[in-house]
Amino acid sequence: MKRLGILLSGRGSNYEAIADSVDAGRINAEIAVVISNNPMAKGLQRASERGHRAICIPSKAMEREAYDRLVVAELRAARVDLICLAGFMRLLSAYFVNEYPQRILNIHPSLLPSFPGLEAQLQALEHGVKHTGCTVHFVDEWLDAGPIIVQSTVPVLDSDSVGTLSARILEQEHHIYTEAIGLVLSENFRIEGRRVLRIK
Ligand code: GAR
Repeated sequence: MKRLGILLSGRGSNYEAIADSVDAGRINAEIAVVISNNPMAKGLQRASERGHRAICIPSKAMEREAYDRLVVAELRAARVDLICLAGFMRLLSAYFVNEYPQRILNIHPSLLPSFPGLEAQLQALEHGVKHTGCTVHFVDEWLDAGPIIVQSTVPVLDSDSVGTLSARILEQEHHIYTEAIGLVLSENFRIEGRRVLRIK
């Protein structure tokens, strides 16, 4: 059975969606460890309530690579095969990325490469796009930048606020993260340049 490591910084709804998919057999893997850089993260609390190994490694005042070495040590100890960033609000160092080539996924609430970084839903509203959405991609050392695995589009309505738009995007996030994890675990893909192509 493949082993997932989930990294989060906040609410943890994407973690919960992944955990629900694991429990329902939609993802053929187990959650080996949940790690947060934020001691107050709701997601960390939910993970321990659900019986997952939940660890806080505070990142405050730590240099990036020194921090990542602590996280990688925990992931190794937990024998993790695939890492899912689920609202983990930190850039990974080259060291971290090179330890897990093509084995780190991230979810982002926009159609990348539009609106990387913080408050992607607000960026989309302010820009005036008519469609936005969410993206699951492989992680490299640049912000929201690696090869794209799955995307889903969401219309922007005239009546939308950041709250209503974010909620509709989040619903899609929960679906596409399961789909992307399934594809990567199945190994039925190849990467050509930036393109992630299905082979079955
Ligand atoms: C999600 O919307 C996720 O896409 C976003 O943070 C939120 C976390 O929610 N991630 C990023 O913006 C990463 N650049 P959650 O804690 O409920 O999963």
